[in-house]
Amino acid sequence: MTRIGILTSGGDCPGLNAVIRGAVLKGSAVYGQDFVGFLGGWRGLVNGDIIPLDRSRVRGLSNQGGTILGTSRVGPYQEPDGGAKNIQKTLDALGVDGVIAIGGEGTASASKRLFEDGIKIAGVPKTIDNDLDATDYTFGFDTAVEIATEAIDRLRTTGNSHDRCMVLEVMGRHAGWIALHSGIAGGAHAILIPEQPESIDQICAWAVSVRDRGRSPMVVVAEGFTLPDMSEAHSTKGLDGFDRPRLGGIGERLAPMIESRTGIETRSTVLGHIQRGGVPTAFDRVLATRLGMAVVDLVADGGWGKMVALHGTDIARVGFDEALANHKTVPKERYQEMRVIFG
Ligand code: F6P
Repeated sequence: MTRIGILTSGGDCPGLNAVIRGAVLKGSAVYGQDFVGFLGGWRGLVNGDIIPLDRSRVRGLSNQGGTILGTSRVGPYQEPDGGAKNIQKTLDALGVDGVIAIGGEGTASASKRLFEDGIKIAGVPKTIDNDLDATDYTFGFDTAVEIATEAIDRLRTTGNSHDRCMVLEVMGRHAGWIALHSGIAGGAHAILIPEQPESIDQICAWAVSVRDRGRSPMVVVAEGFTLPDMSEAHSTKGLDGFDRPRLGGIGERLAPMIESRTGIETRSTVLGHIQRGGVPTAFDRVLATRLGMAVVDLVADGGWGKMVALHGTDIARVGFDEALANHKTVPKERYQEMRVIFG
């Protein structure tokens, strides 16, 4: 019987538990595989910290957010006693044949190195940011967009009531997918993403044109967006003369700039980890379950050193290299087609 260890690594993501459930249910039923879960990301693998995973342990998991295995951002080569040699010793002691690592770019890169160093490892891509290459969508993204869209809908009613410009900051350090999709879905008047520069003059011009039509401007900004000159962003004085607390995010910096330049009272909200927590959408549950089921097929075929991915509507198998070759950022044309209707 093949014994497989599963771990989750990097930032958590709605759908992780559905992957675990899909893998355990199919692997045990179809291939007679036996599963354990490594606790706390790579640390659990390095230290041999495991829990058994069987049908009863994964029952009812597909709608649960977070990860029952815990996660961390510390890589396997960064852990004390980490590295392939010690990991192989741990695997041998536990009778574990190979590892399924569910994670983002950092996890794929660590998995690639471990595989090259002799560890049998397969991967499942995850990130709410949707910026992993070689897969069309990552689970968790749909949930994050849904939560951000609901936030826009809610901010709109309070913004309209007070004639205020509302700025919503969403996650996305390197890629603006969450901002773009939630901004389109929520009908934002400006969407600001790390990939595309916009000047403060342009942002204010959009806000003023919205106000002149008697509407309240809605700006969605990804956390990784920057202005060419951020120095002005450090002033936090509002129109009422009071200092506004600055939380350090781009949204908090933009709001007083928009307010002082346009005279439109402006407030900002940082959505933060709310967009990463809670129950996954049905789309993410289905995608995560399919990926979990597909990765045990991959392992049963001896396809170590690869990960499963979504290509169109099919689940494909790709090398870790492919996933790491590029950062999947928002293409310029995709942004420009929406920019036409800003303001
Ligand atoms: O990589 C996913 C992500 O959600 C980013 O969008 C965000 O910048 C980051 O994680 C936050 O990470 P942490 O939870 O470690 O602060």
